[in-house]
Amino acid sequence: MEVVITTPPQAASLVADAVTAIFRGRPDAVLGVATGSTPVLVYDELGRRVERGELSLARARAFMLDEYVGLPEGHPERYRTVIDRDFASKVDIDPANVHGPDGLAEDLPAACAAYEAAIQAAGGVDLQLLGIGSDGHVAFNEPGSSLASRTRIKSLTRQTREDNARFFDGDTEAVPRHCLTQGVATILAARHLVLMAFGKGKAEAVHHLAEGPVSAMWPATALQLHPHVTVFVDDAAASRLQLGDYYRETFQAKPSWQGI
Ligand code: PGA
Repeated sequence: MEVVITTPPQAASLVADAVTAIFRGRPDAVLGVATGSTPVLVYDELGRRVERGELSLARARAFMLDEYVGLPEGHPERYRTVIDRDFASKVDIDPANVHGPDGLAEDLPAACAAYEAAIQAAGGVDLQLLGIGSDGHVAFNEPGSSLASRTRIKSLTRQTREDNARFFDGDTEAVPRHCLTQGVATILAARHLVLMAFGKGKAEAVHHLAEGPVSAMWPATALQLHPHVTVFVDDAAASRLQLGDYYRETFQAKPSWQGI
């Protein structure tokens, strides 16, 4: 796991470099997209690169991490709506090539199995963007999630519903209780995982992610088992890292050809 302590704009630029390199090599590559406030800077940067003609996602396929159960089509906080607004509308991707688990399906387990099959049929995810919850969740794999899990229904913790209430006019009760989420094993199957976390509220989760023992209590710690993970944090999110000085020195001394 590579931990990079930097500013959010610098992180967004480095992530956009990695995405650009993938799609220059293979225009129909597969991008894993995340909702939440953290990745928005990356989507803005990708949008600017598309506008300048430096990047095209016209043939890209994109897969979302998760979706609330039961929010109607067009609901502003339905993750499909959020991804259309925050990501798809800013780049040249065909919206028909943006996929997410169907939180409105009558048969939710069947929708989860179909989603796993669709990711596989696309050849798997090349680069997966990730955030982390203050409780250590990755996608919506809450504490206690199986580290071998695949896409399935999960109940959100109170902490997550309180964290996300800011998107629902501050009303925790308006945040759905259930979601469909890629499992931990689904996420670990992507070829490159890029996790971003900014702000003091993420410091404890980031400490566990990078330096704690692998544990279902902090599901993001499973990323330690993946061979290619890049974690971007700002100073506040890095404030509890024991090896912060080492991560800083390592990044400063990194050979310029290496990329993330
Ligand atoms: P955030 O959410 O980017 O809005 O902080 C991250 C998450 O909960 O996974």
